[in-house]
Amino acid sequence: MCGIIGYIGNKKIVPVIINGLRRMEYRGYDSAGIAVIANDELRLSKKPGKLVELENVVNNGNGAFDSSIGIGHTRWATHGVPNETNAHPHISQNKKIALIHNGIVENYIAIRQELAGKGYQFKTETDTEALANLIEAYYTDDKPLEEAVRLALMSVDGTYGIAVISPTEPDKIVTARHGSPIVLGYGDGENIVASDAAAILDHTKHVAYLDDGELAILTRDNVVIKTIDNKDVKKEVEEIVYDLERISKGGYDHFMLKEIMQQPQTITDAMRGRLLPDEGDARLGGLAAELQSLAYARRILITACGTSWHAALIGEYLFEEFVRIPVEVEYASEFRYRDPVLSNDSTVFVISQSGETADTLAALREAKRKGVKSFGICNVVGSTIARESDAGVYLHAGPEIGVASTKAFTSQVTVLTLITLLLARMRSMSASKGTEIVKELQALPGKIESIFSSIPEIKDIAKKYYEASNFLYLGRGYNFPVALEGALKLKEISYIHAEGYPAAEMKHGPIALIDENMPVVFIATKDSSYEKIISNIEEVRARKGRVIAIATEGDQEIKNRADHVIYVPPTLEFLTPLLTIIPLQLLAYYIAILRGCDVDQPRNLAKSVTVE
Ligand code: AGP
Repeated sequence: MCGIIGYIGNKKIVPVIINGLRRMEYRGYDSAGIAVIANDELRLSKKPGKLVELENVVNNGNGAFDSSIGIGHTRWATHGVPNETNAHPHISQNKKIALIHNGIVENYIAIRQELAGKGYQFKTETDTEALANLIEAYYTDDKPLEEAVRLALMSVDGTYGIAVISPTEPDKIVTARHGSPIVLGYGDGENIVASDAAAILDHTKHVAYLDDGELAILTRDNVVIKTIDNKDVKKEVEEIVYDLERISKGGYDHFMLKEIMQQPQTITDAMRGRLLPDEGDARLGGLAAELQSLAYARRILITACGTSWHAALIGEYLFEEFVRIPVEVEYASEFRYRDPVLSNDSTVFVISQSGETADTLAALREAKRKGVKSFGICNVVGSTIARESDAGVYLHAGPEIGVASTKAFTSQVTVLTLITLLLARMRSMSASKGTEIVKELQALPGKIESIFSSIPEIKDIAKKYYEASNFLYLGRGYNFPVALEGALKLKEISYIHAEGYPAAEMKHGPIALIDENMPVVFIATKDSSYEKIISNIEEVRARKGRVIAIATEGDQEIKNRADHVIYVPPTLEFLTPLLTIIPLQLLAYYIAILRGCDVDQPRNLAKSVTVE
């Protein structure tokens, strides 16, 4: 997802914009740009590549960027290659408008054609340039900037989060959103707009979130919010609870490693105030009003993308085993387009760390359109999915900065376990079973902590296999989704091709891939499918495959079967994913480091995919 920041106030604009964009670097981008108003004209600079390229140019601008109003953008290319021409901000043909934009204008070809008829010519391949010229075309002397923006957006199909400035009215920023997040920061004699609260925290903790179809006009002393059809909007100004310290690396080489190591704490935070040891139960305030419809739903659907979809698969196993309600898990991108069969006694869970993933948000809206109760499991407070769900549960994992999701995954699984416990205890689970689960949940953070002592062995394994071209990850039952997640971690940060599979499925095809060059990771904990996993390991060894096993402490037998063993403590079978994923996250991390990859900002990836 691109980064947007706009500032109007009394500070020097360049450091405000550059530092704000730096706070959003983690989301991934391939170019960056800034536009300011100085001496009643627009000053623009934009560069492909990293932010430091832009910073070097504007800091040597001989005063050209001396101003206290401006906008900045980090772009993750959708339309048009990542180069200086296509980078944002885009300036309209007659230099009356500077625009930055997250999202996709789907009817931009038609807009370009209409504008070409009015004498507009285009310098770039982007949809954003079309929007900049459209706003300018509406920006006649008889109307303020916000009216030109409003009229232009009325004819746009697609998604946007934008910020606009004009030298004609040098004391205002206009912003608007439809499908891409916009957060407003309220300061003293200054106001800020950004696509991520992290960019605002250097200046204020007082924020409000634009909803779809809303726009805002920022001056130094005021923020006015309207709907796209020009009705006034009153917004509650909230205070952000996390601070910048939590966003910093905290002494680790990468955010991803910090977030892996944070998991004992983040799982503790996911359970804080939510466990009832004496009753062997859980308490989730966010679901309280909907418990009956949840506990007696005829069917549960869970929809998500990527890592969150893997957590959803574990949720399916949990709900079906303990709550005994049929569950279906769907990729959000499939769910939203296939006209799913939903009835009002169905329930939909939507899982999203960022709360802004376009496909997942669209799936939520599709479910609501069909009158189904929707529950969001999100990490980012105030995110769109969190706000549009009927109810939900926050992860309380703190900002996840690394593009590869780690702590959010284990917190999602923890929350799904709490929901399972809560619903199961309303149905057929006994207090003694509930108490056993609560006690084991409370022991989990310490068990995760103990796995970190295996980091030297994990580093050794990484050294042996970091040059492999392919990996296979195999697991059964609750650890099948862990195999998928382990493979995704490796793929997305080391760029090694890796596949996750149900272990039994290997003989239906993937076994053809096995040879001495194929490392195979087995999740082989002592559980109900252990013997079967051992057979699968033998099948791989018979074909000279190299076996890396994640096994239960004390299991000596596995040492005779696997080339490498990483141990995790014993726990209840359905809680093993919270342990077995840890070594897989670390293995992916150390392999990626050895391959010289950009672990926190892997190529081509964004932290939150707010485009289709
Ligand atoms: C996970 O490591 C990836 N970064 C990606 O698959 C991510 O899980 C997916 O884009 C969903 O994001 P969300 O949870 O914010 O909706």
